[in-house]
Amino acid sequence: MQTLDLSDPQTRLIVLTGAGTSAESGIPTYRAMNGLWRTHSIQEVATAYGFLNDPALGWRFYSERRVDALAASPNAGHVALADIEERLGDRFLLVTQNIDGLHQRAGSRRVIELHGNLLHSRCTVCDRPPFADDRLYQELPLPLCEVCTDRAAPGMIRPAVVWFGEAIQGADMARVEKFMESAPRGHLVFLAAGTSGVVTPASAFVEDAKRLAAATWLVNLEPPENVGYFQNVLLGASGAIFPALFGVTPG
Ligand code: APR
Repeated sequence: MQTLDLSDPQTRLIVLTGAGTSAESGIPTYRAMNGLWRTHSIQEVATAYGFLNDPALGWRFYSERRVDALAASPNAGHVALADIEERLGDRFLLVTQNIDGLHQRAGSRRVIELHGNLLHSRCTVCDRPPFADDRLYQELPLPLCEVCTDRAAPGMIRPAVVWFGEAIQGADMARVEKFMESAPRGHLVFLAAGTSGVVTPASAFVEDAKRLAAATWLVNLEPPENVGYFQNVLLGASGAIFPALFGVTPG
């Protein structure tokens, strides 16, 4: 089994994770045979239009996701990432497309949640900041925002996740760019894991990394759409591969 050489104190590691890294925790992925997008319509449950059209359907879907996330525990892959962060400190950054919060529960701290967090909610109208919320909204009436009740049409509470057609936070993108660009040339390692490489902007991070002469690694069960960009491809489960790849002992 290969091990990443991160011993040079100038080397920086950026890791991009997707749904596959939570699969071993029992969280369904999106595009597998039994994935969420095989049984649910993206248009209905993963767009702002779909939510406003049928918020009860949206909340049933995200309440099920909350149940799954709360019942799950971090797997060996999540733990290995937290361990390597412990060793690298500010030379490490984790960017996840996952909304389940399992990286933080494993101990990861330098995490960018590109697609938001399932266990937070926000208002459809006002700009109150997202707030922690693990409640299940499976029955009517659906929750309205308590902050904008004086409006003619108060906002609704919605999951604080980024849907198709919605913008990724500019500050998150800037943090990713800054981390990669500030690595000394030849000292950036980019690793993607558990992602099908079809959703931008995350799927294009490997191209940015390559422009910066990064070493590119992939850990994925099957070859993703953008597999051609990676120099080093390890096919398999992240929970099985990460501990050896990072040279950390499963605890
Ligand atoms: N270890 C590594 N890879 C795995 C594992 C595993 N244990 N299990 C599955 N995979 C791989 C699959 O082979 C697949 O390539 O993980 C990938 C999961 O792909 P998707 O289901 O498409 O998930 P993801 O790439 O994270 O989706 C991106 O799409 O709908 C949106 O917002 C949603 O964040 C999500 C985005």
